Amino acid sequence: MNLWRRETTPQVSPLRQRITEEIRRQGPLPFSRYMELCLYEPELGYYSRPQEQFGKGGDFYTSSDVHAVFGRLLARQFEEMWRALDSPERIDLIELGPGRGLFARDVLDWSAKQFPAFAQALRYGLVEQSAHLRERLQGRLRDHFRAGYTEVFDSIEAAGAQAGENLIVFGNEFFDALPVEIVDHRGEVHVDEQNGRFAERFAPPAAAAMEFLDRYGVHPPEGERVEVPLASLAWLDHIAVMFRGQRGFLVLVDYGYTREQQLAGRHRDTLMTYCQHQAGASPYDAPGEQDITAHVNFTALRARGAERGLDDLALLTQTQFLLGIGEETQFADAFQDCRQPQERAKVALQLKHLISPEGMGETFQVLLMSHGIAREKAAPLSGLKLAR
Ligand SMILES: C[S@@+](CC[C@H](N)C(=O)[O-])C[C@H]1O[C@@H](n2cnc3c(N)ncnc32)[C@H](O)[C@@H]1O
Repeated sequence: MNLWRRETTPQVSPLRQRITEEIRRQGPLPFSRYMELCLYEPELGYYSRPQEQFGKGGDFYTSSDVHAVFGRLLARQFEEMWRALDSPERIDLIELGPGRGLFARDVLDWSAKQFPAFAQALRYGLVEQSAHLRERLQGRLRDHFRAGYTEVFDSIEAAGAQAGENLIVFGNEFFDALPVEIVDHRGEVHVDEQNGRFAERFAPPAAAAMEFLDRYGVHPPEGERVEVPLASLAWLDHIAVMFRGQRGFLVLVDYGYTREQQLAGRHRDTLMTYCQHQAGASPYDAPGEQDITAHVNFTALRARGAERGLDDLALLTQTQFLLGIGEETQFADAFQDCRQPQERAKVALQLKHLISPEGMGETFQVLLMSHGIAREKAAPLSGLKLAR
């Protein structure tokens, strides 16, 4: 059931004005366009403005905010992938939507310390659309940029043009930040403006949205709404183009669902807003000042990847993936710099939060795909050990 309440006291803001102007010029906007303006409008959108989005002083935590062990375990996995590719002299790791760069920092630092041969081969490309975040990345990863093996790009095309023959494409909480369409039994949501407030109108869903729901989702019964993440399919297309003629792996970590879960009645109406670690009531409140996010349809991503020539390795929970990677070393990556027993206890709790099903372990899933790699070479990856 959709419970978004109408906004109460709309504050006039430059972004609200900009959205209103666009509505007056063009008519009601598809919800995806409204979401895009709220999140990414240069200088005014949520991810484009200078205020903190991440961590304690921001609006939400991601895995890299919990502990560096997330990046360290992934570094371990990337090193195995590099070996599965026969330890080439150069491997490009392209991270989609790196945000403020904690994950990149953890992977680069840990690789330099633990996996020097891999670190030597590693070229790290950061694809970030927010000019403000790109600037922050330059600062945080200053030493790595100076060494010349790290580069920041504003588009996947730019990153792809620079990449070598061996690739790993990685994204954590990237797809959940892409604009979505919204459909309910009345049609597709379009955002209009009336007396200074946003108001929903309904249009017949576009053919692409209907096809998406036919193939990967469910058509919403009365009283429910579902998201149609068409932009996520376009991203799989971009990624597949980048893999053309190349070899490598795709690793996507996100909170999401499969079509089976949706058919069983779960994960409908997953659009959420966050501000200062609180879920908000409506995406029409305070445009640009709150995060807007939707769960990821993994069935659609997998199917699109396969249609575009990627090999499907597994879809597994974060619990299974991280346990598979860390088990053999008993998670030494987490505890290595703990000096005191109290530090160990604290890190153990952080690790538990990342891995346990009650923490982030079951909410987050990991999609692994590959290109140009024989199955028997990919199968021994430790992250796949616990795949069902
Ligand atoms: C939810 S944040 C996740 C940040 C980071 N991966 C983490 O786990 O902390 C999503 C990120 O994706 C970026 N992003 C969204 N759309 C993008 C696009 N089209 N191209 C590049 N980056 C994009 C946002 O600016 C933001 O930094």
